[in-house]
Amino acid sequence: MRKNLSLLVLFIALIEFPTWSATAFEDEKTERKVEQLLQKMTLEEKLGQMNQLNPHRVISKDFVERIRRGEVGSLLNIVDTESINKLQKVAVEESRLGIPLLIARDVIHGFKTIFPIPLGQAASFKPELIKTAARVAATEATETGIRWTFAPMLDIARDARWGRIAESFGEDPYLVGVLGKAMVKGFQGDNLANTNSVAACVKHFIGYGAAEGGRDYNSTYIPTHLLKNVYLPPFHESIQAGAATLMTAFNDNDGIPCSGNSYLLKDVLRKEWNFKGMIVSDWTSVSEMIPHGFAANEKEAARIAANAGVEMEMVSETYITHLKELIMEGVVKEEVVDEAVRNILRLKFRLGLFKNPYTDLPSKTCFYASSHLEIAREIAAESAILLKNSNEILPLSRKLEIAVIGPMAHAPHDQMGTWVFDGEQEHTVTPLDALKGEFSDVSFRFEPTLICSRDTNKINFQKAIKAVSKSDVAVLFLGEESILSGEAHALSNINLMGVQSELLKTIKEKTGKPVVLVIMAGRPLTIERDLPYADAVLYNFHPGTMGGPAIWDLLFGKTNPSGNLPVTFVKETGQIPMYYNHTNTGRPAPDKVGSINEIPLGQKQSSLGNTSFYLDSGNQPLFPFGFGLSYTDFEYSELEISDDRMKAGDTIRVSIKVKNKGRMSGAETVQLYIGDKTASITRPVKELKGFKKIYLNPGEKTNVSFAITLKELSFYRHDSTWGAEPGIFNVWIGPDSEQGLRKQFSLYL
Ligand code: BGC
Ligand code: BGC
Repeated sequence: MRKNLSLLVLFIALIEFPTWSATAFEDEKTERKVEQLLQKMTLEEKLGQMNQLNPHRVISKDFVERIRRGEVGSLLNIVDTESINKLQKVAVEESRLGIPLLIARDVIHGFKTIFPIPLGQAASFKPELIKTAARVAATEATETGIRWTFAPMLDIARDARWGRIAESFGEDPYLVGVLGKAMVKGFQGDNLANTNSVAACVKHFIGYGAAEGGRDYNSTYIPTHLLKNVYLPPFHESIQAGAATLMTAFNDNDGIPCSGNSYLLKDVLRKEWNFKGMIVSDWTSVSEMIPHGFAANEKEAARIAANAGVEMEMVSETYITHLKELIMEGVVKEEVVDEAVRNILRLKFRLGLFKNPYTDLPSKTCFYASSHLEIAREIAAESAILLKNSNEILPLSRKLEIAVIGPMAHAPHDQMGTWVFDGEQEHTVTPLDALKGEFSDVSFRFEPTLICSRDTNKINFQKAIKAVSKSDVAVLFLGEESILSGEAHALSNINLMGVQSELLKTIKEKTGKPVVLVIMAGRPLTIERDLPYADAVLYNFHPGTMGGPAIWDLLFGKTNPSGNLPVTFVKETGQIPMYYNHTNTGRPAPDKVGSINEIPLGQKQSSLGNTSFYLDSGNQPLFPFGFGLSYTDFEYSELEISDDRMKAGDTIRVSIKVKNKGRMSGAETVQLYIGDKTASITRPVKELKGFKKIYLNPGEKTNVSFAITLKELSFYRHDSTWGAEPGIFNVWIGPDSEQGLRKQFSLYL
């Protein structure tokens, strides 16, 4: 009977807790281990766990001694497996408690095999592919012993002057949220304990992309509603998806440096979102609170950061130097340290580091594995955006004689983009390499003309003109060197650099030949002045190792371009910030605005109507968010809405027919936008709330539908609560943020 009873209890337990899986059980076991270990630790050993260091090229005896004494919890930027194992051995076998080191690295868009920069990956609008690429990156990185990456970056980037826009997924919170989540899942795999999983780190918390004027590290001024509705949601998404760690940002927002902002780290992250992971500072962002003018000295910086909730300090070592004294003085509680160490140890247990601290010497067979290169090629192709294609000049016939011109045609280093520490340029396949290899049947003439994107020497223009004159078509590879974007590489002028624009114009004017402009850059450049001289424009955010063949696949029509802009392309730098999900203002500009030349001489006060636009560049961008052409045409028709009235708990379905009207099969990103017409705070004119990338054969027609629930209509309201408000909503489905068919519905609550 007793046995039966216990079976019954077990049975009930199983019914009651269908998700009470091995994981929950494992979690409980881990918690016990964390507590047991914590009990044994001295204060010094605890502070050691909170200390992350960057070893210098030559690892000194003193450094090793510090690991032996338990003064180091994590290392970044060490990738040589032998050295990693050596140091790990000191930590595991020679330090008092044998706590393994956690090895970190910025694996941002690939480890050895380099994928397009994140902004390019975002243009693919393909979360599954981004997840796969991150999985590949994790597989390669873990070969060396790296178990933690500082990615994905989830900063909303609305300013192309900011060099780190390259590392972002663009301007839109929904898109960044969906793609960030995919990347986290790709890095972390099914289980962090798998030796090929890396812990992800969502960064930079918060608002770093809003740096005033796009100047890196600059102050931000993001007020509460904007913070809650635009900047925070992608982080929340990734945390719900299980992101293991989070990094605080360099900037001060509204006067508070992010590594000292307890409201964000405690009230939002821990309490509101229930984040169970670990919080790391950015590189010296703790001690940088001194130049910020927020802490008088390192000791104060340590106190502020620790009390705000920063748990591991990257590089600046104020914790290990001052926290003990601060605890003795009672201004930092030991519980603060205990909680931080718990989160750090838990991560090390979850990663299986106690069980498997060492890494086998890398077989290296997985580096640049052909399957990895295939994925790199696929994502590079999916990430390229066709911006212009006059007279269907593209795709090109392989029979044409091609003049290959420009500094980016063979720039193996630059093609990889920013934040590449481990990918080697010898493995990059440039457009020129691809022509010499896989596409060797194509006849071409190569004239780089310029040494690099910044080159101002026009001495070789004549050679380029000659080459183009003798060919059927010119393909110009222009853009930016990788070093012109990325961290600390902001620009105030984002035109094509050097004499690249002049080269394009000269070629068009002097030869009259069809010109295809292929750009590789780290940001959206202001290319309005260049468009008239190019018959077609294929825009690539630095496409990575396999950019070359991917670009020819597209130019020759083996693959049909299907990338869409994850950021607005402005006409002039002076239009920045310009983004599709802006508010309407009290005086929105009409569809067509006047231009500066229409103002009569001597005109008094009012001339073109008092609405919100620039006299010289209007109110429209060069290309809107979501834009991207294809070699085929997609027709949108029959937008239908299941109900034009909605109540709480209802789901409305909106659907549309999309038809491939052209002659080529291809992919199309069908985009759903919603606009809340009236609310307790002014709302964006429209917001992306869903997208589906579909593939259609010529003549094929399909139905694409989206569900709308209260979730899609909710926002952070005037009264500081989340929810939807009754009223009228616009809903669009279309190919980008400007075009689309529209319906309306009303929400009753
Ligand atoms: C960057 C971070 C990066 C860290 C470590 C900092 O300068 O802002 O994004 O993860 O360095 O390399
Ligand atoms: C302007 C005001 C002005 C009013 C009356 C408005 O368009 O914004 O500043 O006082 O016209 O002329």
